[in-house]
Amino acid sequence: MENLCLPTPEWAVPLIAPKRYKGAKGGRGSGKSHFFAELLVEEHVANPDQQSVCIREIQKSLKFSAKKLVESKIQDMGVSHLFDITLNEIRRIDGQGLIIFQGMQDHTADSIKSLEGFDRAWVEEAQSVSARSLELLIPTIRKDGSEIWFSWNPDQPTDAVEKHFQNNPDAILVHVNYTDNPWCPEVLIKQANWQRKADYEKYVHIWLGGYNTKSEAQIFAGRWRVDEFEPSDDWDGPYQGLDFGFSQDPTACVRCWIHDNSLFIEYDAGRVGLELDDTAPYLKREIPNVDKYVSRADNARPESISYLKRHGLPRTEGVEKWTGSVEDGIEHIKTYDQIVIHTRCKEMQEEARLYSYKIDKRSGDILPKIEDAHNHRWDAVRYALAPMIRRKGQGLVLSRHRR
Ligand SMILES: Nc1ncnc2c1ncn2[C@@H]1O[C@H](COP(=O)(O)OP(=O)(O)OP(=O)(O)O)[C@@H](O)[C@H]1O
Ligand SMILES: [Mg+2]
Repeated sequence: MENLCLPTPEWAVPLIAPKRYKGAKGGRGSGKSHFFAELLVEEHVANPDQQSVCIREIQKSLKFSAKKLVESKIQDMGVSHLFDITLNEIRRIDGQGLIIFQGMQDHTADSIKSLEGFDRAWVEEAQSVSARSLELLIPTIRKDGSEIWFSWNPDQPTDAVEKHFQNNPDAILVHVNYTDNPWCPEVLIKQANWQRKADYEKYVHIWLGGYNTKSEAQIFAGRWRVDEFEPSDDWDGPYQGLDFGFSQDPTACVRCWIHDNSLFIEYDAGRVGLELDDTAPYLKREIPNVDKYVSRADNARPESISYLKRHGLPRTEGVEKWTGSVEDGIEHIKTYDQIVIHTRCKEMQEEARLYSYKIDKRSGDILPKIEDAHNHRWDAVRYALAPMIRRKGQGLVLSRHRR
């Protein structure tokens, strides 16, 4: 047997042990394709009879397949003498081993059966793979010990591959970016750095593997940015807000400041499954002196507020909700000249990108309805700013009185 010694990047270590589904998702230039190509060649060197298929949703020509990369790995690893590389496939010389390259769109429910004896399927650009393709492929790769690998650049959280990895006990998923790639070429690092300055949202999507948001649909589109800052004595605040989690939702807490008609979000903290008993100790660890200032929370949970007042957050207060309170809160937040989110508040940045108006599925039109997702920290911001938020209804009543 050949003795191969390959350096494995740290991010990929969890993907080496056998697992039915392996996924590497993330931004450009992170080494996803190189890693799976190496792993594949390594396995084919160890097992002369392994049969593998490299798949894309659409593969009009082999030029756009992983074939070139696999070939170059075979060369670089010095194992060319074990393989016969033809126009369409790679064959192991001394066994039944085979690597082929196919497009899912060329397959029918019948033709996919040709892959039934295969040991590995590696799905590249898996964000483009349709639900139909996954339904065809997954039951086909059924051999004992077979594995299906996925590598992709995230696009939408609703993509079929994303759903496949959600709460899947047979799957291991790693998120990786160029910053984790020890061999990342200088040109890519330069490009990424340029993009970070030019268009931060695009940078997060392309280089950090964040979802692709239709930015015009963002609730706070064009109003927020990420920066480092230090609140000074003449700033108003802090204003702290707390959104209680339910089973799947995180408990989230933020600390904001107002200065020069700008809203500054200095800290965010939050976690799914945070027990009420653990809330105060957790928040005290994450947000300095959180207990010294008022924190405002949704008064739909009076028993939780009362508990926190007695256990570590004595200045917790309830704030009212009303029909339209979400919209009124959003309108208020939009009155600031800008929203500055501290660089440390990663989850807040994520919610700023993802908190969106609904989009009509057929026309792509942005609707005046708010998507009920990615709003936990924004809810906390609304609670924090509650004393400044006007009830629309009230405003109208007042103006009538004056007349
Ligand atoms: N194992 C490796 N050995 C040598 N170079 C590597 C290795 N892994 C990554 N690289 C370098 O990093 C670059 C990016 O790697 P790769 O193309 O695998 O990233 P990727 O995550 O698939 O990117 P994309 O999302 O753009 O497809 C490669 O072009 C190569 O220069
Ligand atoms: Mg790639």
